[in-house]
Amino acid sequence: FAWLRHFKKSMEIPTPIYNHVSNYDVYEPAEDTFLLLDALEKEQDYLKALRPTIALEVGCGSGVVSAFLATILGDSTAYFCTDRNQSAASCCVETSAANHVTINPVLTDLSTSFLPRFEHSVDVLIFNPPYVVTPPHEVEVNGITASWAGGVDGRQVMNRFFKQVPNLLSNRGVLYLVVIRENKPDEIREIFNEMGFLCEVVMTRRSGPEFLMILKFVRK
Ligand SMILES: C[S@@+](CC[C@H](N)C(=O)[O-])C[C@H]1O[C@@H](n2cnc3c(N)ncnc32)[C@H](O)[C@@H]1O
Repeated sequence: FAWLRHFKKSMEIPTPIYNHVSNYDVYEPAEDTFLLLDALEKEQDYLKALRPTIALEVGCGSGVVSAFLATILGDSTAYFCTDRNQSAASCCVETSAANHVTINPVLTDLSTSFLPRFEHSVDVLIFNPPYVVTPPHEVEVNGITASWAGGVDGRQVMNRFFKQVPNLLSNRGVLYLVVIRENKPDEIREIFNEMGFLCEVVMTRRSGPEFLMILKFVRK
């Protein structure tokens, strides 16, 4: 059945081109990034059926996740992404051009500059946040440390983001969030439950000491 394996492979969505990323002071695509890409690929039929108008990736880093999403969904969706790191915005523009997609990076804290303009408008929301447990003050550090430093329970940045989610998502909108076990996913599920969202685990993977999970949230 070698031909079948080849057929499956040819159906896979290619990983975006990102060999320029090392020229920038940004988070290089890593295991968490690739798990997120695999989860989006697994979700592709669901995402296409959603016919999203607006996609927003918070903390885009290199931009490969948004580029991958744009490859799945095509031109009828508008792609926005944010980061607090200026180099991420520049890198994203190059990633966008290298992969023949159009992604619009904005420098802002989380999704702040999109509110209230994008209130209840985002159909696909994605965040691979700084999730590593660190001393609380490291969250304030700029540059590449901001890519991973998550403070207490690795939750300091994502906790602030959680409050923006109900304002951002459209009625049929979906959020994909990367977490590790130390972030206490059960507690996160409960926070979203109280805000009126259902939670599903789309994919998990062990990577060295990290147990990574992709959580999906939709309104009840
Ligand atoms: C784990 S990296 C993920 C990068 C990319 N999305 C990926 O999957 O490879 C987290 C990203 O979030 C950004 N970030 C951290 N705090 C942020 C904030 N408050 N607002 C916007 N972006 C933030 C970092 O600069 C970094 O690019």
